[in-house]
Amino acid sequence: MPSTYPPPGALHRGIDGGSADLFPFTWYNLSVDATKLRRAVARTPLAPVAAFPKRLARVARHDAKVLRVSARWLFTSREHHNYTYELTKLSRQHLAWFVAVVCDLPVKQVRGYLAEIEADEALRRHIESATAGAARRGLADKRVRYARRVGWYALVRARKPAHVVETGVDKGLGSCVLAAALLRNAAEGHPGRVTSLDINPEAGYLARTAPWSEVVDLVVGDSITSIAALDRPVDLFLHDSDHSRAHEKREFEAVEPKLAPGAILLTDNVTTTNVLADHAERTGRRFLAYRETPANHWYPGDGIGVAW
Ligand SMILES: C[S@@+](CC[C@H](N)C(=O)[O-])C[C@H]1O[C@@H](n2cnc3c(N)ncnc32)[C@H](O)[C@@H]1O
Repeated sequence: MPSTYPPPGALHRGIDGGSADLFPFTWYNLSVDATKLRRAVARTPLAPVAAFPKRLARVARHDAKVLRVSARWLFTSREHHNYTYELTKLSRQHLAWFVAVVCDLPVKQVRGYLAEIEADEALRRHIESATAGAARRGLADKRVRYARRVGWYALVRARKPAHVVETGVDKGLGSCVLAAALLRNAAEGHPGRVTSLDINPEAGYLARTAPWSEVVDLVVGDSITSIAALDRPVDLFLHDSDHSRAHEKREFEAVEPKLAPGAILLTDNVTTTNVLADHAERTGRRFLAYRETPANHWYPGDGIGVAW
């Protein structure tokens, strides 16, 4: 094998090895010339016109994929809000590191927590059957997919909070995931409960079955009023109710005097607002954000913001 490319003489021999005089063009020469031409055009006012076909092809490929995924979702999913999906493999790996950094734990341990919730067949079967029997089953998917909630699970497993507060319950998927983590913690000698707040009295139908319901306290009412009425210190607080900036801010202000020393604050709103980051700065905490990437879904995903 020649050690240089093109091999010595190749420029002059042509592809069939003929003499330079008879066959003066080579593929190599052509590609060198094309590169030179592209670079020359890039320096002229024609550059945007020349690049247009490549740009068009790129955006068309992207949009076709979004359309394909969206069309499939329209006919296979029943969800009209609070969408569920799997995370991409890469997004799961980043989530494990996110939790490991926040909790100052080896990432292997966090991966173990993520594997634990995915392997919890009892919880999965319960959610499937409670969804199938629910009055609002026409607006829910049969398949159980936790998305970023597996990060909530890992945070609860890592921090072993005695009292978790979740604002915004909807069907109760997050409450169930949090309850599953608290039940595991209890089995290891660290009992805890979750207070789940929602303004809708029908919310939380997934979280009304034992053993998960045994550690969940569902409270109906506006979250600001319900936070003000909390009578136990809060170790882990999760905002996931009214996602307006004003309401999110009011929740963090309302819960501040209720927090236990070293409490951790989470928001589900981190891809939309900077409310928790600002709150962290005002209260002398650190802040970090994780943005999830849904697999095979048109929705761009939400995230987890954390202040600690
Ligand atoms: C995004 S969903 C919650 C999702 C849930 N945490 C989960 O893991 O699936 C938002 C919920 O917040 C509730 N909500 C909206 N405004 C509220 C308020 N002011 N106080 C309490 N809950 C509220 C809605 O009724 C809805 O069920």
